[in-house]
Amino acid sequence: MLKTAPAVFAVGENYQIMVSVTAPSLFSVQVGEKTYYDAANGIMRSQSPLHRVTVPMAALDAARGYTVCVRPLVERKPYFTETAPMAEIPFAFTPVPHGRVRAYHIADAHNRVETAVAAAQTFGNADFLILNGDVIDHSGDPSKFDNIYAIAAALTGGHIPIVFSRGNHDMRGNFAEQFAAYTPAENGKTYYTFRLGDIWGMVLDCGEDKDDGHAEYGHTVACHDFRLQQTAFLKEEIAKADFAAPTVKTRLVVVHNPFTHRLSPPFDIEEEVFGEWARLIRTHIRPHAYVCGHLHELSVYPAGSAFDDRGQGCPVIIGAKPGEDAYFAGCGLVIDGEKLTAQFTDSNRETFSTVTVAP
Ligand SMILES: [Fe+2]
Repeated sequence: MLKTAPAVFAVGENYQIMVSVTAPSLFSVQVGEKTYYDAANGIMRSQSPLHRVTVPMAALDAARGYTVCVRPLVERKPYFTETAPMAEIPFAFTPVPHGRVRAYHIADAHNRVETAVAAAQTFGNADFLILNGDVIDHSGDPSKFDNIYAIAAALTGGHIPIVFSRGNHDMRGNFAEQFAAYTPAENGKTYYTFRLGDIWGMVLDCGEDKDDGHAEYGHTVACHDFRLQQTAFLKEEIAKADFAAPTVKTRLVVVHNPFTHRLSPPFDIEEEVFGEWARLIRTHIRPHAYVCGHLHELSVYPAGSAFDDRGQGCPVIIGAKPGEDAYFAGCGLVIDGEKLTAQFTDSNRETFSTVTVAP
């Protein structure tokens, strides 16, 4: 019944367990004694092939496993709906541990699945996965989203968490407006915070990479206003100061587009807004690194380097390089409190040198 293993996304203080089914079904997840439902105001959802169940992190971390419950729907009727017997599929789950952890970062796969998976396998075991935008080439039809879940399933098997962010190419096509229905989001928003082990993280979403008025978009985007909403979100998070909790040892900003860098025209957008984001983040949140993609390169740029146009305050990692013939290279991260190293690996099973990011 399940198209792939589930993807377990870290969003806020919850996991969103998401998976597609091969036929209309009712869907729930059991964690310990409690059942969590894919329901809308008390109605079990069956019309979307993609199911989502939100489970508190604390519950799943403690249980270290969950059972996916899928009941095929024969015919939904106003009275006496017909269903088939429920299948129960157990999955072990390993929360991100405290102390030294490993993660793999994929962005800009642009529909590459096998090679993105191969690059991650070159790095080896990971405690969590980061999918950082443009995993697909556009959102023109819903089958595109299958690529996200194929990578997630191959690399996590539903056993470890995933951090997900949206990229600019994800914003194009007929289903772009439904992107948050097909991917993790907090109350429909593609920007949020997360906690994994000793790590506090923030996912930001720069939206498109050119001005809203650019002809390429044909009046279909309103990203300036969307970015201003994130300025307000940043200020709210700074006021809450969850990142300053004593249990937080590492702070990361995961964002597809490295907005602290000023690109050349027509990508030289939002001088004021991106400058304000950079200032708020370096002054108050003081992350240990930005984790980015978008530029199709493998680099670590220290604060104050020629790359640093808007005041990074910490290193920026650019960790994804798609190439010809489906080639893909991504970035393994080893995180241990304030210590952070990057190891770039590729789909040809090559491991590049390890770069010390911090301190
Ligand atoms: Fe991009």
